[in-house]
Amino acid sequence: MSETAKLTINRGTHGDSSRQETFEVPFEPGQSVLDGLRWIRVNRDPTLAFRYSCLNANACKECMMEVDGEVVYACLARLEPRDMSVAPLSNKPLVRDLVTEIAPPPERLSQKKR
Ligand code: FES
Repeated sequence: MSETAKLTINRGTHGDSSRQETFEVPFEPGQSVLDGLRWIRVNRDPTLAFRYSCLNANACKECMMEVDGEVVYACLARLEPRDMSVAPLSNKPLVRDLVTEIAPPPERLSQKKR
């Protein structure tokens, strides 16, 4: 029998991420938490929101989230065949699900003042 990782994910929008959903993900050694989230989005729930760009290089720094209560890069955090909790950054404004506003205010796009 194949192993599974069970990811319980905090979901929601605009400051309320209190809804939790649990997904079982087929586990293969060497996978990252980001791999698990991408599997969920492709195979279970295309609405799951999370941000990433470089996939596994710790270069874009867009995949920051909390796994088991610790701030990690999801592309570097190892998926494990056990229950794991995944939540958005608790100290940043929530956009949706695992997406938080991580850009400092001066770097955000803004409208030109006229
Ligand atoms: S996806 Fe780029 S640092 Fe994780």
